[in-house]
Amino acid sequence: MRLKTATPETIDEAAACLRGGGLVAIPTETVYGLAADATNGAAVARIFEAKGRPAFNPLICHFARAEDIESAVVTDTRAQTVAAAFWPGPLTLILPRRTDCRISELCSAGLETLAVRVPAHPIARALIAAAGVPLAAPSANKSGRISPTTPLLVSESLGNAVDMILAAGPCAVGLESTVLDLSGDTPTLLRPGAVTAADIESVLGYRVEDGTTTATDKPKSPGLLLKHYAPSIPVRMNAIDLEEGEALLAFGSVKFMGIRTGGAARDLPPERVRNLSPRGDLHEAAANLFRMLHELDRPQNKGIAVMAIPETGLGLAINDRLGRTAKRTD
Ligand code: TXA
Ligand code: MG
Repeated sequence: MRLKTATPETIDEAAACLRGGGLVAIPTETVYGLAADATNGAAVARIFEAKGRPAFNPLICHFARAEDIESAVVTDTRAQTVAAAFWPGPLTLILPRRTDCRISELCSAGLETLAVRVPAHPIARALIAAAGVPLAAPSANKSGRISPTTPLLVSESLGNAVDMILAAGPCAVGLESTVLDLSGDTPTLLRPGAVTAADIESVLGYRVEDGTTTATDKPKSPGLLLKHYAPSIPVRMNAIDLEEGEALLAFGSVKFMGIRTGGAARDLPPERVRNLSPRGDLHEAAANLFRMLHELDRPQNKGIAVMAIPETGLGLAINDRLGRTAKRTD
């Protein structure tokens, strides 16, 4: 890990690191973020590994300018109104992904939506512009710890898990961005922050639903609020052979995989098979996970049989996610 004070030279160095698939801790006005090229699935997978996240939660994509989000998400007048009022700034919008969105599906954790934000911090904006790609970035702390607001807190939390820390002093806001869900009919606040519901209501001219409390007024954690993606057909893990009619989500070689009623998995029609990583690489597998699940989630398939994935590193997060979808059999 290299901690470097932000200068035009170190910003270029950080941009090159990001373009090469590296991880850089970056200053924003809210908290420090752990950034990777959002269009590079294997780089995004490294974020989860570095944070030690037990599961794949969706990530915020950071853009240099408000107009840049148009290539990734579908906007409407509500989104344009709040963007004009609060961006650049500490507000994140949840919007539907465009069908031709180039952002890794890992950033959306398989959902049809993407969280987007234009940070106000000049170093963050200069870096995104220099990198030339949107940056996926959760807060730059280990999973379960508080969000870091100084470069020192980042290095204490992440240490060598990050390639470079771009240091620019303490964060001005010091609190994570407000998260506003605009993907449905009713604008819903998912996480409170420096931009308040009242601020948003005053520019929109109507009420914002409070999604941060339940009917009993107990705060919900963002993790609980989140709807997780699950295929509509059953998922069977640790499969050693295939049932008739099942699709195969492979990991590594399929040479010895058979079909119970006879035949070999390698002879299945291409639309019934995806391989997360033929060479058994967990970063590649994580990067492919949600896209391939979507591709196999078709009514023609009776279910999805998934080959065993090692319970190490990113394999833990992959199995965690598959385990949750496997329990859903409706
Ligand atoms: O201030 C911030 O927002 C910082 C800086 C680095 O930008 N980032 C941050 O990211 O706090 P993170 O990953 O720690 O929190 C992102 C929140 C999570 O609660 C996540 O569940 C939610 O945003 N989120 C992200 N994508 C979502 C989506 N598609 N739908 C619903 N919630 C989403
Ligand atoms: Mg966080």
